[in-house]
Amino acid sequence: MTTAKPDEAPLIRLTDYQPTPYAIETVRLDFDLHPDKTRVRADIGFVRRAQTAAGTPLVLDGDGLTLTGLALDGTPLAETAYAATPDRLSVYAPPADAFTLTIETLVDPDANSALMGLYRSGGVYTTQCEAEGFRRITYFHDRPDVLAVYTVRLAADKATAPVLLSNGNRMESGDLADGRHFAVWHDPHPKPSYLFAVVAGDLGVVTAPYTTADGRDVALAIYCEHGKEARCGYAMDALIRSMRWDEERFGRNYDLDVFNIVAVSDFNMGAMENKGLNVFNDKYVLVDAQTGTDADHAGVETVIAHEYFHNWTGNRITCRDWFQLCLKEGLTVFRDQEFSADTRSRPVKRIADVTGLRRAQFPEDGGPLAHPVRPDAYREINNFYTATVYQKGAEVCRMLEAVLGRNGFAAGMALYFERHDGQATTIEHFLSCFADATQRDLTQFALWYEQAGTPAITARHVYDADAETLTLDLEQVIPDTPGQRDKKPMHIPIRFGLVGPDGQDLSYSGVSGADVSDGTIHLTGDQAQVRFEGVRATPVPSLLRGFSAPVRMDSGLSTDDLLFLVGHDRDPFNRFEAAQRLALDMLVRASANVGAGGEASPDLRLAEALGRLIDDDGLEPAFRAQAIALPGEMDVAEEIGADIDPDAIHKARQTIKAAFGEAIGTQAIAAAARAAPDPAYSPDAGQAGRRALTHAAHDLAFAGGQISDAEFAGAFAAATNLTDRIAPMRSLVMAGAGEALLAEFYDRYKETPLVLDKWFALQAMAPGSSSLDTVIDLTRHPAFSMRVPNRVYSLIRTFGAANPTGFNRADGAGYRFMAEAISDLDGANPNVAARLATCFRSYAMLESGRRGQAHAALEGIAAKGTLSRDVADIVGRILAG
Ligand code: TRP
Ligand code: ZN
Repeated sequence: MTTAKPDEAPLIRLTDYQPTPYAIETVRLDFDLHPDKTRVRADIGFVRRAQTAAGTPLVLDGDGLTLTGLALDGTPLAETAYAATPDRLSVYAPPADAFTLTIETLVDPDANSALMGLYRSGGVYTTQCEAEGFRRITYFHDRPDVLAVYTVRLAADKATAPVLLSNGNRMESGDLADGRHFAVWHDPHPKPSYLFAVVAGDLGVVTAPYTTADGRDVALAIYCEHGKEARCGYAMDALIRSMRWDEERFGRNYDLDVFNIVAVSDFNMGAMENKGLNVFNDKYVLVDAQTGTDADHAGVETVIAHEYFHNWTGNRITCRDWFQLCLKEGLTVFRDQEFSADTRSRPVKRIADVTGLRRAQFPEDGGPLAHPVRPDAYREINNFYTATVYQKGAEVCRMLEAVLGRNGFAAGMALYFERHDGQATTIEHFLSCFADATQRDLTQFALWYEQAGTPAITARHVYDADAETLTLDLEQVIPDTPGQRDKKPMHIPIRFGLVGPDGQDLSYSGVSGADVSDGTIHLTGDQAQVRFEGVRATPVPSLLRGFSAPVRMDSGLSTDDLLFLVGHDRDPFNRFEAAQRLALDMLVRASANVGAGGEASPDLRLAEALGRLIDDDGLEPAFRAQAIALPGEMDVAEEIGADIDPDAIHKARQTIKAAFGEAIGTQAIAAAARAAPDPAYSPDAGQAGRRALTHAAHDLAFAGGQISDAEFAGAFAAATNLTDRIAPMRSLVMAGAGEALLAEFYDRYKETPLVLDKWFALQAMAPGSSSLDTVIDLTRHPAFSMRVPNRVYSLIRTFGAANPTGFNRADGAGYRFMAEAISDLDGANPNVAARLATCFRSYAMLESGRRGQAHAALEGIAAKGTLSRDVADIVGRILAG
């Protein structure tokens, strides 16, 4: 048994789940909105559950609440009948099987800097209740398995808050005395408290009509700051396309008469799927040619789709408890990835998603914060909105499709929607739908939800030309992770092909040793020896096509075999992957050499292979752009895994990039010119891909000395959209130049905070030990604020998460700066402070000097007396290793 530190938050366990003794059927909320004194009256209709003994105490969650009135069925409660603290309300012995509790609380939106519960952002009242923000508004069973029908009355000053919104449909509105007005909203769909939302303020709006496939007319509206309406067009277009896609692909229709989206500028995360009233970080709404890059447009499309898709996967079917978070998040990410794949280019989308998974999730899974896709214990649920729950959770859904086939997966989804509509449910229920629909046993597959850590697969092959057999030895090892050792083998679907000398996949006449079907090897044991008979020519095995499982694959292929796959694999993902593998191996070797005082020694055979790819105009420009980008410094660090010297990696990568640029830069420029986009900006995937190829080609050529600073300055000046303006500036700044362009950029965009975020981020990324001074200076810039999450993320998190040489300065000053920022922010916004703290998660991989410095900075944070639960949890887990 381990003993908890005295101030450590209690561990909440999946196995402790119990339903509440009382259900809540109806909620009536009355908000009298004032900037610093909002009165909230909640009439909550409780019903004792059948299994609950009469008189069982009612215990409700609160968080920092001020109780101003309490009545039961209209009669004020005697002081002896209840106990109230800011964090809990207990009614000792409720007298009836069904009763209404009237709770009055006083809330201060202006003082709410944590951005959870009810707060004001730019004069607009807004709420954020997931995961546990509703308890900052009133006492409640603030947990996802308590579903109720809500009616909400809002009253506010009409001049400053002409727009009054809540979930569902608007039933009534009108004027009140003293320049105030009101509106009443009713949401007929029972929902958990985390999906409740209110927005009130003076907002501009863009509207569009929509008719669902099943014939419902829906009024769509996107609300934003006045004057920014023109930047909502792309989001509206993405919303309409998402709604159509969910009807076509999953048979899901929207279910209310209105769908509202509100863009706010102070928001902890991306967006929130409140029923009928999605609230967005404005970064994921406001884009146009001048204020959003191609990547921003893609981001808006993804997040709009994601939140919309939650209406079925999350809202109509919700989670029983927060351990089941991946039930809605992993599945909804899978759905938004599929939407983008169908809308854009499937291979390009897959490469982007896998790159993101490797950068965000693999380090998490391999470090002190590793946890299963479905965690089994937590201290602070806000810290589990992670890449593992979201991205790996999506990979698990994708594997389910690989295991069951497209039709089997579709049948399981259909059964899930049919069986669990209106319920708060679990991963077991979800998997049962697929097992029942396909008559398959998913017991082993379920381990993907339970076992943390990225499986490592080793593959070795031998071809016997005389016998025409290929023998493939496969092995899986699942690494130990905090609290988990000695794991069971998992079901790993490995899509594959046997690539013949002419580049076509070879056939085989028989196979033994593993279940092989539909081009997929199902590895289910620790090891397997798979024998393919009747293989007529020497094959190069192309394994894990499309990245069919979230694993590390050591394919054992020779450099020649990998070069062959770069040129010939018919699976575009594995062409990309073979090039990345070669580049990573080269970068790892070069870093070791440079670290030991030697040379990087680039191998130009890979550059030549990439040159042939670039020249192939039959390949999508976006794909070619992805293929020629070398792995990043953090990817190399992750591959090395121990005793990291970020400076050596940086130097090695610069040298290799320069050599590649010299070798194929001219070719790349010419290929990009052939694929030049139309002069008029359009954010569609085809045009964006052409721009991406131009920028990747020019960046490489610049490293090779074939594009000058002056040429980039010219490109910057000639740009007609943000994408083309930022790219040359980025190449220059990353090379330690670009001062003049940064100044010009600032001047042009000083009134547009979301674009200034890119200006902050780019400077925070600039490599080298002096970037810390730049970052410190920028924290004092008038456009920067520690109170606005987007600013903190763009400047401070970018520095910690995307500037390996700057953050990991050998003298430890980067770590001390980050520790100070975390401590400063923690009192105001623990959620965002905890996200900053994750920048330290891979510190144990550093060489000993830096490791010691980072450790000391972490100890410094931990030693603070008044740490939030959020930061204490992250720092505690990182230090515990
Ligand atoms: N459920 C949201 C999503 O994935 C994310 C979310 C959870 C969130 N908690 C939040 C967003 C707090 C903002 C603030 O779509
Ligand atoms: Zn989500």
